Amino acid sequence: MASVRIEGVSKSYAGRSVLPSLSLEIQDGECFTLLGPSGCGKTVLMRLIAGFESPDSGTIVIGGEVVASALTAQSLPPDKRGLSMVFQDYAVWPHMSVFDNVSYPLKLAHTAAAALQERGRRAIDLVGLGGLETRLPSQLSGGQQQRVALARALVSEPRLLLLDEPLSNLDANLREEMRFEIKALQRKLGITILYVTHDQEIALGISDRLAVMDDKGVLRQIGAPQEVYEHPADDFVFRFLGIANFLPVRRDGAAFYIGGSDAAWVGPAPDKQADQFSAGFRPSDVLLSRSGSGLPGIVRRASFLGAQVDYLIDIAGTLIRAALPSHECLERGLLFVEGDPCCVGLATVQWFVGDMTSGARV
Ligand SMILES: Nc1ncnc2c1ncn2[C@@H]1O[C@H](COP(=O)(O)OP(=O)(O)OP(=O)(O)O)[C@@H](O)[C@H]1O
Ligand SMILES: [Mg+2]
Repeated sequence: MASVRIEGVSKSYAGRSVLPSLSLEIQDGECFTLLGPSGCGKTVLMRLIAGFESPDSGTIVIGGEVVASALTAQSLPPDKRGLSMVFQDYAVWPHMSVFDNVSYPLKLAHTAAAALQERGRRAIDLVGLGGLETRLPSQLSGGQQQRVALARALVSEPRLLLLDEPLSNLDANLREEMRFEIKALQRKLGITILYVTHDQEIALGISDRLAVMDDKGVLRQIGAPQEVYEHPADDFVFRFLGIANFLPVRRDGAAFYIGGSDAAWVGPAPDKQADQFSAGFRPSDVLLSRSGSGLPGIVRRASFLGAQVDYLIDIAGTLIRAALPSHECLERGLLFVEGDPCCVGLATVQWFVGDMTSGARV
């Protein structure tokens, strides 16, 4: 196991900053996810930690050992850092069998034949590929090939595993299954995992803690999944972790009126001082009814998605998304069609300073 400490690490290419001074600490044995949009610098950070690139400034410490320091121009080669990395495209060698693919790092390290056999088989069993040792990658499914890449990364018993979006090529069901398996593997082996992805569902599902990075390579928030989801540091984090709805807020003294409502909000008020607020909420926070109290809206689009029904609702010119469990829609007569009037209540809101309603993603 190994902790990772990144202190003031920056990286530019041809004068263009990709990572501005980034600091981050990952605990021993933790599954930590770096979540950020495409192009924000996730792979660059992984390559810096792995040792394929050197930082322009700052220090990288793994398990208490300085592996890269811009100040002293010190850099430990990748194979001396005690880590393994599974890349975005998880390339397995097409001409090599499952066993040869997995045991290749041991061969490179001149591991004795008996130990190579034993450790190769153990890594293959670990990812559930026992019995497929002699197959070629072309005789495997995408998910099985992904497991080969994972076994190859685990065979050298790394103290730190770097996973760069390793599930992006898999279909939704396999992705979910592999997510649980990676988590189970991490628990079993007790290794430290740094996982990077732009998929918020994976990040929330797999991590002990996660960091949300913006498109400029700046860390906006670090915390446990629930903490970051329920208490986003700012609107960037809120938008990035799921579908974000915003309604304008009018303030009258201590009373807050959301979305043109004439009834004051009765839940918790903002804990910050500002002239202007927006109320943010998720589709699942919407309480929908046919008539009654709440904001009057018009259903603009209704999509049946199996487990839930997704509505696009126009509230006095602002579009919001609502998601209701399908069984609730059926039981409570809430299967709306396009053009239906409805009433929108809110179970909870998060307060954001400023007007977020312009350019809101719906
Ligand atoms: N060797 C390089 N030379 C020049 N620019 C680079 C180099 N490597 C990465 N970049 C640039 O750095 C930025 C961050 O790239 P990076 O690959 O880290 O993004 P990412 O967050 O991994 O995105 P994705 O989610 O799409 O994989 C991009 O603008 C990219 O073009
Ligand atoms: Mg990348």
